This record gives sequence, C-alpha cells and structure tokens, in this order.
Amino acid sequence: MKEKIEELTRILEEANYNYYVLDNPTITDQEYDNYMRELIELEEKYPEYKKSTSPTMHVGGEVIDKFKKINHLKPMLSLPDVFNEEEIADFVDKIQELHISPSYVCEQKFDGLSVSLIYKNGYLVSGATRGDGVVGEDITHNVKTIKTIPLHLKKDIDIEVRGEIIMSKDTLNKLNEKRSKEGLPLLQNCRNAAAGSARQLDSKIAAERNLDNFIYHLPNPEDYGLKTHYEALEFMRSLGFKVSTNCALVKTKQEILDYIETLAKQRPDLPYDIDGVVIKVNELDLQEQLGFTSKYPKWAIAYKFPSEEVYTKLTDIIFTVGRTGQITPNAVLEPVIVMGSKVKRATLHNEDYIRTLDLRIGDTVAIHKAGDVIPEVIRPLEERRTGLEKDFSMIDTCPICGTKLIQKEGLIDYFCPNEHCAARKVNSLIHFASRGAMNIDGLGDEIIENLYNEKFLQTIPDFYKLYLYKEDLKELEGFGEKSVSHILDSIEASKQNSLEKLLFGLGIPGIGAKNAKLLAKEYGNIDKLKYASVEELTSIKDIGDILAKNIVDYFHNNKELIETLKSIGLNTEYIGEKTSFNEYITGKKFVITGTIEGLSRDEIKEFIEKNNGTVSESVSKNTDIVIVGEKPGSKYQKALDLNIMIYDEQKIKEVMNM
Ligand code: IVH
Repeated sequence: MKEKIEELTRILEEANYNYYVLDNPTITDQEYDNYMRELIELEEKYPEYKKSTSPTMHVGGEVIDKFKKINHLKPMLSLPDVFNEEEIADFVDKIQELHISPSYVCEQKFDGLSVSLIYKNGYLVSGATRGDGVVGEDITHNVKTIKTIPLHLKKDIDIEVRGEIIMSKDTLNKLNEKRSKEGLPLLQNCRNAAAGSARQLDSKIAAERNLDNFIYHLPNPEDYGLKTHYEALEFMRSLGFKVSTNCALVKTKQEILDYIETLAKQRPDLPYDIDGVVIKVNELDLQEQLGFTSKYPKWAIAYKFPSEEVYTKLTDIIFTVGRTGQITPNAVLEPVIVMGSKVKRATLHNEDYIRTLDLRIGDTVAIHKAGDVIPEVIRPLEERRTGLEKDFSMIDTCPICGTKLIQKEGLIDYFCPNEHCAARKVNSLIHFASRGAMNIDGLGDEIIENLYNEKFLQTIPDFYKLYLYKEDLKELEGFGEKSVSHILDSIEASKQNSLEKLLFGLGIPGIGAKNAKLLAKEYGNIDKLKYASVEELTSIKDIGDILAKNIVDYFHNNKELIETLKSIGLNTEYIGEKTSFNEYITGKKFVITGTIEGLSRDEIKEFIEKNNGTVSESVSKNTDIVIVGEKPGSKYQKALDLNIMIYDEQKIKEVMNM
C-alpha cells in the first residue's frame, strides 16, 4: 500500500507542477480529482503512510490555535524605496564605482506578503512570514495549501527560498462578490487579502482563498555554487518553484528605465498587483562586497510606481484629539478607492495646511497615498467649484470635552489642555498598547475605546487588572473565549518588554521610540532614570533642555504610576535590542576570557548583547561559547573540561565583521 500511496503522490505532484506552475495541464481535471480522491481515501485508511507534505495537504484542514514564532536563519530585510530616475542613477553610479561592468536583474515588485520557505531533503518543513525581520510567524499549515508552492522539490536538497504570497486580482474580485452576497465586509486590496488569508488559524480558509506565490530570493546562493542572481532564479525554477519569467538581465541605467516603462504599460493587464520594480545587482560576489546596512541590502533598490491620484468630494472637516491633546483636522471624503483600498478620511495635518491649500467644504479634491500608505489631500480642483462651497473655520473648544483650546508658544497646532479629556485618555491607552510601544497584540484602537467606554480600562495599570474581569469581557460584543484569552496572554507577555518599550508607551511629551531607546540604554533601569536631573539628561547627545525638563517633570508628577507598574510586575530594566540577528550570537550564552587585540571587553559585550546573546562571568555547563584571547584565565581550562565551543581571536573578529 505504501507503494501505491507513493505512486499517487508522484502523479499528483507532477500534475500540480504542470498545471499550476507551468500552466500546462498534462492530465484532465477528472483524472486529477480521481487520483486525489483515491489518495485521500488511502491516507485515511493508512495514516501511518501519510506524509506531512502529501499533495492532499493542498486541500487544507490543519487548524492551529496560535502562531508559533520562527527565528529567521538570516534577517529578512526590506528594500530602500526610490521614486525617480535620479535616485536610480545614484544607485547605478555607486555600484559602478566598485565594478567596471556590473549587470542588474530587474524584476516585478509583487504586492503581497513576503514568505520564507525551508526545505529539508527536498521536503517543505516550514513557511514563515517576515514578522519584524528577525522573528516571523509560522504559517506552514497555510503555505501547504498554496498549490504553486511545491511540497516536494525536484531535487532532495536542503534549501531556504524567499518570495511573495499573493492573491490574483481575479480571485479577489470573486471572493469579494461572494462576501458581498453574504453581507461580509469586502477585502480592500490584493495585498491585504493575501496577508489576511495567509494568517488564518484554520488552513481550510486559506485553501479556499486560492493564494499564489512567486519566489525571487535565495539567501545562500553560494551553497549551490551559483555566481549570479540570474542563475539563482533559474536554479530555483529548476527545483519546481514558480519564478517569474518577466524579468530582465541588463547592463545600463537606460535599460533599467526601459524595463520600468514597459512594465508600467503592462501593469493594468497583469493578473496580479505589482507596485514597482526591484533592481538587483546580478553578480553575487559584488553583492557580498556591497553588503548591508542594518535595514537594507546595499545591492538592491525598489523603484515604486508613482502613486495614483483620484478625485472625490470633501464633505466635511472634523477634528480629532490626540493623546497629547493635539487637535488634528481630518477630511471627511465621499468614499473612493485609492490604489486598491477604500478611503473615506484623510488627515489635513493642521489649520495652516488647510489655509495654504485653500480647501473649502464641498470642494472636489485630488487625493493620493503618501508613501503609498497614508491617504492625503493634495489640492482642491478650483475649476469644479460651484460657489456653494463653505469656508473652513477653525474650532476654539475641544470637540470632546469642550475645554478652550490653547496654542503653545511657537507652535501652529492647537491643543486641548484638559488632562482628563476622554479623547486624550483613550489615545494614551491606545498608544501604550501600540506596536512600537508595549505591543499588546489583539488590542486594536476600537477595542480599547470600547473597554474605556465600558469602564474596564481608564488608566495604564488597568490593562494589568483586566484578567479580573475575564468572564465579563467575554460577554462584550465582538469578544469570545479565544480572543479574550489571547488579549490577556498578550498583556501578560508585555510585562517582560525591555524598558524602552515602556518608556515610549508612557507617552512622556517629546519622547518617541528613538529617544526612549537612548534613555533606556543610558540609564539601564527606570529607578536611575527617574532621579536624573535636567543637567545630567542634557549631557546626553540628542536630549535638549525641553526634553530633559519634560522627563524630569513626568517622573515628578507620576511617582505613584511608576511604583504601581513595578508592583504589578512590569519589567523596568533595559534588556537589549531585539532587532539584530546573528547566527553565531543570537540566543547564545558567552563568557569572555583573556584579551583580544584591538577590541575591549565592553565592545565585545555590547556586540553580543545587541545581537541578543548574553555574557556572563563564569563558565558553566549552560555556557554555549567561550571567547578566548591572549593570556586567558582558568575559564579557558574549564571550557575545555566541559567541552564548550571556543571562539579564538580570529573567529570573534570574523563574526564581528572586523
Ligand atoms: S528581494 C534582500 N524581490 O518587497 C532582498 N523583494 O520592499 C529581499 N518584494 O520585503 C527582497 N517583489 O516582500 C525582492 N522581486 C522581488 C520582490 C520583493 C516584492 C517585496 C518583499 C520585500 C519588499 C521590499
């Protein structure tokens, strides 16, 4: 029976590849269905022969209750965006400085969700989202439902490839037709739909969504003896991956521009969404020479197509109150689709912005998406005015609490000075839970607003008391057993965040994520920071008089809050950056002994901690690596006795890129 199952598996793998990847069916649908049915039946009868990569997995069925985290073997970086010819020329010029005759590969920039796929011995073992670039989410169960992702490669090798999960325009339209009939909210665009579908707990739903993919990146090409990116694309194609043939191997800036022009023309007729062109240096040794910044490779750029401009009516201007009391005017628009998603609001920044543009209520306005994300009003179409438009007038009292607004010295913005204003409080709570701050998953803006209105949540410590009301929360509209447990778990997990997350979340005026990190690093824990004086704080680069005073005032006025948060069990220490990943360091415990020429112990320690490793003083069986320099102490012998891995001077310098 094992042989029969293997034979059916082979036939279906081949048929899938021919049908989905090559778009060239070799058997009829009827035959395919029969083979599939036969295999499903046999696997049900003989589960011991069912492989986790069987073609029957494409149908879905596996349900998970939580996404596991996956550490990427190498960070998943994004690309620097460029928007015009000049920036492309800059890129090409820089490369040309290093190489007399480089070549480039131009590819479509697919608009979906990036994915890393890992194969062992030719079989798919995991699929992960990009996440924060260092740690992603395990979406293997859904990846297996994507028919253009091979579950078994044409060669039995170990390999990681990266690409984009996408949804075709046609699939999105059909899905939305169905959702509209069922009264469900429509999915906004192909990217959101692909991302939402790939992040389902139930793989049956993902399977129904008919996702697709393109593979475009091989993180370790040298392992397969490849010399160029173009060869890597061909190699991945030969393994059975869907690799686009709409790419060009070129040598000059003009050829890059020609590719962009041609692709821009093809764009509306392509079956899937693209938002630009990725330009990559082709020679892999040159790529290596160019290296990376902390965020991007220096050997590739993403040219973004100019953002689409659309026209709609400005029906009103309303005002929102931020957590600092800042008043922001917002355009209320007749809903329109801009770059695939529906827009009905856009920020108008401040009074000055409206006056400079001379916006009037009732105007037809041009809008676009700034940086392709945030909708923005660009200008009114004066020629379309009827004379019935109304002038805009600025408010002088808070739209939420009615307090008279103030203007701070030197600033154009208006503020609500009432610290008890409900809008300010809600937005402070939203800010505390947000991704850049305490990153409490599951607590979106609306949920927080609801919890505030229902009086479950009024102040920051209330987040950590929510578990007391678990049963009451389940009764609220839109909440269930699962979502409440998830929220409470995320709140509990947030207690372990490093200090900078908390400092940012507290919303100290002027302290953004960057300054919060600066302070956390400098002071190490909140107890030291809360006693810092203005003089001491201003001695830190980037902290000026105003910020220093804000910090001192904040801690003076919020002593009780800080003590409460500590007594609840929130971590108030700086743990370290979670952003860097280094395969030799991350997650490992180090001990340093002896001296390394040209490197102080602190420098080595800082590097290890930055890459999420730890350094301790003494060697034990829990130590992973001992760094041994000149004249080592007894720690060296102990490491040898315990058979612990040693990094000598050459190795640690190599790891530190020196
Ligand atoms: S290469 C190290 N190629 O665009 C470089 N990325 O803004 C790896 N993307 O995160 C990426 N099409 O999700 C590459 N042909 C393509 C792409 C592509 C779409 C996405 C990818 C990446 C983002 C960068």
